[in-house]
Amino acid sequence: MSGLEGGARPRFRNIDVSQLSQYRLPAPGLVSILHRISGAMLFLLGIPFLLYLFQESLTSELSYQNFQQIASHWFAKLVLLGLIWSFIHHFCAGIRFLLLDVHIGVEKEQARAGAKIVLGASVFLTLVAALKLFGAF
Ligand code: HEM
Repeated sequence: MSGLEGGARPRFRNIDVSQLSQYRLPAPGLVSILHRISGAMLFLLGIPFLLYLFQESLTSELSYQNFQQIASHWFAKLVLLGLIWSFIHHFCAGIRFLLLDVHIGVEKEQARAGAKIVLGASVFLTLVAALKLFGAF
């Protein structure tokens, strides 16, 4: 249900699918949903992919060459970059959630600032990792 309760800014309670385009998720909400998505990506894609690469890197000389070929392919690098972002975001957001659990940064403005720091730091660190992964330095 939505309405203009208590001011010009629309308030949303239980939103309907048709209202999704008008709903602006606040930064803490975005961090939260991305934390779940990144956790799922790390678990469902990260564990099997990294274990496979690890196995290929160790089994034999031939499998090591296969590992090198896969790891140097642009698409594999893109997948790795997705996993790197997932880990960095999940890690930073996880630390923020643990701090919230001990009542640090729970006030509205602090919670918003913390969420923006998490979003900014994870994008920045992922960009640095991307430059390294694609050989800029
Ligand atoms: C190493 C740093 C990590 C930290 C600090 C961390 C922290 C956290 C925290 C605090 C939660 C609970 C969030 C809540 O209260 O809702 C959580 C959930 C979760 N984590 Fe991690 N985690 C880390 C690594 C990982 C890794 C490596 C994986 C997967 C391989 C993972 C998968 C998940 C999943 C699937 C959830 C449940 C998400 C949800 O249901 O919303 N985490 N993590």
